[in-house]
Amino acid sequence: MKAAVLYEAGQPIQVEDVSIENPHAGEVMVRVAAGGVCHSDLHVMNGDLTAPLPIVLGHEGAGVVEKVGEGVADFKPGDHVVLLWRASCGQCQYCLSGRPALCEMGTGIRWSGNLSDGTSRFQRGDRVIHHHAGVSAFSELTVLPREGLVKIDPSVPIEKAAIVGCAVMTGVGAVINTARVEPGASIAVIGCGGVGLNAIQGGNLAGAEKIIAVDVLENKLGYARQFGATHTVNAGEVDAIESVKELTGGRGVDYAFEVIGNPRTIVQAYQMIRRGGTLVVVGVAPMGAQVAINASSIMLDEKTIRGSLYGSCNAKLDAPRLLNLYKAGKLKLDELISREYPLEKINDAFDALRHGEVARSIVRFS
Ligand code: APR
Ligand code: ZN
Ligand code: ZN
Repeated sequence: MKAAVLYEAGQPIQVEDVSIENPHAGEVMVRVAAGGVCHSDLHVMNGDLTAPLPIVLGHEGAGVVEKVGEGVADFKPGDHVVLLWRASCGQCQYCLSGRPALCEMGTGIRWSGNLSDGTSRFQRGDRVIHHHAGVSAFSELTVLPREGLVKIDPSVPIEKAAIVGCAVMTGVGAVINTARVEPGASIAVIGCGGVGLNAIQGGNLAGAEKIIAVDVLENKLGYARQFGATHTVNAGEVDAIESVKELTGGRGVDYAFEVIGNPRTIVQAYQMIRRGGTLVVVGVAPMGAQVAINASSIMLDEKTIRGSLYGSCNAKLDAPRLLNLYKAGKLKLDELISREYPLEKINDAFDALRHGEVARSIVRFS
């Protein structure tokens, strides 16, 4: 079967024949229907975010169960599923304390590039190829731990469900789960790509009064308005911090969401929040990068800095809930998907992301 393999950071992805092993006990093989093209994969391709190489990329997707391994009773062939980039075991300290996005098993899978038993199901010749975050959605077939899947209503178009797997759950979740934005609040979203646009629509769902979208590209600010931004700021043309302050009576916003992964914009976002406000970091900064934030202001201004991993989601509750909101007309998914690419054109899809041409694009399998 065909899969998209990254051998080395800085090199193009190779679409090639890869062999896949049957699911082991507790695992599920999925025929992928669509995989979303997210900046976290681009971070891995650039080398900003490390991952075990070579790797079958793709961490956002949905598909249909092909076969199940021994002992899997909760999935059967034909089930429609969203693929989760952080499996949650339900048994570790984090899962038990209600923070499944921090699950030890899922985190182990991400950094090892292997499934729970320490081995990979992908191989080319005698070379082992790793799993990306236990998902590897840019592959005709993939194998996941059963804890990394959510069964969904088969009436939902499966390519729409695919982008719930990362962009929607991460962006909406940062606002609803991590920050718990309250009705009437003011928020700023810095970076209006696939994830940021979902933070904007999360702001809408939460009843935020002001939703200030910040980006350097006009087309992204256009998308932002479509997704419910009440104000837009082009950070390439004006001083973004001053503009956000002007829009909020000189004080700054209650919540700022950094959805780029750039230490400079993380500091800017900190400066955009009012005294007592909260900065939520959603973007993945290059590993080892540091941020310089005025130390006394953290205390004197009582500011809060929070990280948001996977929208602090409880994916097995949140994915079906988000899809129900879509069916009820309260969450935009159709407008997010700007383009569809066949697997063979995956490098073009990442070029389009790199150049800021799309809201989100997906790789669609026939
Ligand atoms: N100021 C404002 N906006 C910026 C700046 C900047 N200095 N630099 C880049 N941007 C904007 C881009 O124009 C783009 O619209 O940030 C946006 C990033 O969006 P995408 O490339 O679509 O990335 P996305 O997939 O949304 O991921 C965003 O979240 O999950 C993480 O790893 C992911 O760090 C990444 C971030
Ligand atoms: Zn992602
Ligand atoms: Zn766990």
